[in-house]
Amino acid sequence: MHLLAGIGVALGGLLSGVLVVSANAWMNSPAGFLLRDGIATAVDPLAAMANPAWATEAVHMSLAAYAASGFAVAGIHAYKLLRDRENLFHRHALAIALTVGGTAAVLLPVSGDFNARFVAKDQPVKLAAMEGQFRTERGAPLRIGGIPDAAKGTTRFAIEIPRGLSLLAFHDPDAEVKGLEAFPREEWPNPLLVHAAFQVMVACGSAMAAVALFAALLAWKSSENLVRPPFLLAVLCCSPLGIVAVEAGWTVTELGRQPWVIRGVMRTAEAVTPVGGLALPFAFFSALYLALGISAAWLLRREVSKSPSFPAPADGTPVPETEE
Ligand code: HEM
Repeated sequence: MHLLAGIGVALGGLLSGVLVVSANAWMNSPAGFLLRDGIATAVDPLAAMANPAWATEAVHMSLAAYAASGFAVAGIHAYKLLRDRENLFHRHALAIALTVGGTAAVLLPVSGDFNARFVAKDQPVKLAAMEGQFRTERGAPLRIGGIPDAAKGTTRFAIEIPRGLSLLAFHDPDAEVKGLEAFPREEWPNPLLVHAAFQVMVACGSAMAAVALFAALLAWKSSENLVRPPFLLAVLCCSPLGIVAVEAGWTVTELGRQPWVIRGVMRTAEAVTPVGGLALPFAFFSALYLALGISAAWLLRREVSKSPSFPAPADGTPVPETEE
């Protein structure tokens, strides 16, 4: 029953995320209606849901959620194993968390590549901000790091890989990449923040994918390698990276769409509600979510710390289950 309930929760969570992302994808690539004199007509809800950005965003977000949760959980068990290497519960839990989080982490750069190529075609101004690309040019370089300076129209201190951006975004090293200067100044997102967030996401993703591949190599040689302190320390250090990358990813998507809340249809400034008296509901919901967050953390902590600490028998005999 416990396992079945777990499967139900996992599927429900996945479906909920995929459907929520459909709404966000629609804000990036609005579809399923015609706008006549500022009024939406010929509304087709299914076409709106199945908008062009949905598939790439939903796959990327679902993988991101598994990678972030898997690494966060792996970090907890790595920490416990650093103190008690023989603990069977934490060994099994680490292996499960790394399998889920690691598989997702290795797939994320692949899915991110699909996202980036979609953004290059569908939202070129967002791509230009993500990459700190000010000039429209053929054979555009890929910039690692660097500080976009909107006033001077250049990205300083970046390591540039010649033709890398044209190659990645269009699979052609000589393809033309539109720069921010191709768009009206008032339609630029903030290149400094969007570029920085994109770099953080990709850096976290690269570190997580590297640890996941290394874990697979270690486990292939001997599962004992997974509980060696240097590897456990690496897992512990990577444990918050997925959550950082998720926040950075949403920063890219949301700030990269500015000044629009629904791209090309409604500006964020127009969407700000003029309704007053929101301080009370805001304070109430903040307190509610804080209380829910604290109780979830407390319950999870209790579950983990009441885990059995018996050692794994050397002859592989299954360990009897205990109440604790
Ligand atoms: C490693 C290479 C990665 C690449 C090339 C990449 C690429 C992208 C791109 C281009 C977007 C913008 C999509 C849009 O606005 O339509 C995006 C968004 C996002 N990324 Fe990444 N990403 C990578 C890694 C990660 C990792 C490791 C995580 C989290 C664990 C992550 C989480 C997100 C999230 C939550 C979003 C916003 C939601 C979405 O668009 O699905 N990304 N990513």
